[in-house]
Amino acid sequence: MRSHYCGGFNAESVSSLSNETITLCGWVHRRRDLGGLAFVQIRDRSGVIQVVFEPDDGVLFSQAEVLRNEFVVKIEGKLRARPSDMVNANMVTGEVEIVATSLEILNKSEPPVVPVESHQNVSEELRLKYRYLDLRRPEMQQQLLTRAKVTKAVRDYLDNEGFIDIETPFLTKATPEGARDYLVPSRVHPGDFYALPQSPQLFKQLLMMSGFDRYYQVVRCFRDEDLRADRQPEFTQLDIEASFIDEDFIMKTTETMISNVFNDVLDIELTTPFPTMAYSEAMERFGSDKPDLRMDMELVTVDDLVAEVDFKVFNAPANDENGRVAVLCLKGKAADVSRKKIDEYTAFVARYGARGLAWIKINDRDTGVEGLQSPIVKFLSPEAAEGILERCGAETGDILFFAADKATIVANALGALRLKMGEEFSLIRDEWRPLWVIDFPMFEEVEGGLHALHHPFTAPSVDSIEELKANPSKALSRAYDMVLNGTELGGGSIRIHDQAMQSAVFELLGIDEEEQQSKFGFLLEALKYGCPPHGGVAFGVDRLVMLMTGAKSIRDVIAFPKTTNANCLLTDAPSSASDAQMNELHLVKSIL
Ligand code: AMO
Ligand code: AMP
Repeated sequence: MRSHYCGGFNAESVSSLSNETITLCGWVHRRRDLGGLAFVQIRDRSGVIQVVFEPDDGVLFSQAEVLRNEFVVKIEGKLRARPSDMVNANMVTGEVEIVATSLEILNKSEPPVVPVESHQNVSEELRLKYRYLDLRRPEMQQQLLTRAKVTKAVRDYLDNEGFIDIETPFLTKATPEGARDYLVPSRVHPGDFYALPQSPQLFKQLLMMSGFDRYYQVVRCFRDEDLRADRQPEFTQLDIEASFIDEDFIMKTTETMISNVFNDVLDIELTTPFPTMAYSEAMERFGSDKPDLRMDMELVTVDDLVAEVDFKVFNAPANDENGRVAVLCLKGKAADVSRKKIDEYTAFVARYGARGLAWIKINDRDTGVEGLQSPIVKFLSPEAAEGILERCGAETGDILFFAADKATIVANALGALRLKMGEEFSLIRDEWRPLWVIDFPMFEEVEGGLHALHHPFTAPSVDSIEELKANPSKALSRAYDMVLNGTELGGGSIRIHDQAMQSAVFELLGIDEEEQQSKFGFLLEALKYGCPPHGGVAFGVDRLVMLMTGAKSIRDVIAFPKTTNANCLLTDAPSSASDAQMNELHLVKSIL
């Protein structure tokens, strides 16, 4: 139907196209009447152009009068340059316009519930219910276009590097990635369920055992977890695995891939190699395993300086092996932080388990303790106070915030406060700061037991089972996470390829022989038949695109996302099943 898309014309197009009849198809974006002319902006996926209806052709002009926003039209006309005083610098096609010679209304539209043409604030609920209208908005079109470019760029890169795209099943057995499973009842096996994969982890490892050597897949994963801004119940991974490789191979290959993607899609250079940071250093300095390096403020440990002070809140954790006292120094903002603000921050860190947030304002750095304003200075010796100020590099006008607690609580609380203050005081620089976080602990201790920090298939750094069993809570793993601007983009590891080691790790995780067989028997069996050393990584495609487009939410880069309540407002899923379906699936309706 069309000869051209709307968005590709500029002043240079006029000389080559001025004699041609241009046929455009699209939606009425906006119309206005001015000085006896009708100006109608026509939109398609490529952009918007202005079409002019002149009054000379009375029939055509009156046809144009019925046009309303979102009518679907086919327009023929001639391209011409706009008079210089009519050029619109805010429009890509703002130097030109089409003078209409014919108009066909292909379909009418009711006034759109979600305005497409304006940036009016519309509730996200409405946007998700009328997603097809919301997706017409140029901003949403751009975001999904960028997404397609990103997946194309990664496919091109990986194909080139000899990676093979292989699909793995959706109706499968549970893969533990730390979330709940979505279960699908089996009709032919009463009482049995498939699990939708939380990731293709075990299948990609089996593919390595089959000799495919380098695998990738852009694949949907399903996790029933408490949703947050950057999580969805179904999301897309770029999943990668390779054999006969080490950490270095995966890290080098994929950081080159990510920097190529930034280059191809955004024309941005990321400096490679990406820096690496040990997990322990990230927790120590940034209070996070996904440090945002775009701001300078760091956590400063002062255990040694407060170990002897006469203040139990500080000296107890300072002398406890698992405790920590750390400080954040907010530079030059003491005057901007009111008591009310401190109370707000105290309530904020309480969410992370912190029992308080001591503070010191440095009103005058040159007058020692006299120049300090604080509820806790009276508990500190002048030497301790001076030592803290010096270590923090504190100056007049700064304010210090203290957390004293278990080291994990201190890190979580001050790590989160660091980002909050960074946001509030505009301390986050506009830059791209990728890094690898490495040397993760193999396990974390939860309620007396051990829990895999990555997943149970991750290889420990130690070679022997004896060494691992001797001190499991101190063991490190061969895992690595790629972090960009404070977001975990991807994570992976070198895997266990030895059956005895895999069983030992299951055992340490409290998974007994019987459970090992029922859940992972196929993996343990496969490990007997010549499993190559292998490892891999998976990236969150939605998160990557969200960062690249600057979208505020992961939902803005997914065509049909779910709410934080896991609903699809457009289709109204999930919804109830009929009695007949329930019977067929051998399910009994619960009486709520
Ligand atoms: P992991 O669980 O770290 O690793 O997931 C990899 C990446 O997927 C993204 N991601 C999510 N994105 C949106 N919504 C979610 N609910 C969600 N959960 C995870 C993140 C994360 O970094 N099998 C391993 C990978 C491996 O070891 O190779 C795995 O799934 O960006
Ligand atoms: P209190 O003696 O409880 O009045 O506390 C004195 C100051 O220490 C207050 O500013 C509290 O917010 C702070 N505080 C109390 N517990 C902690 C803690 N665990 N970490 C940091 N500051 C704390």
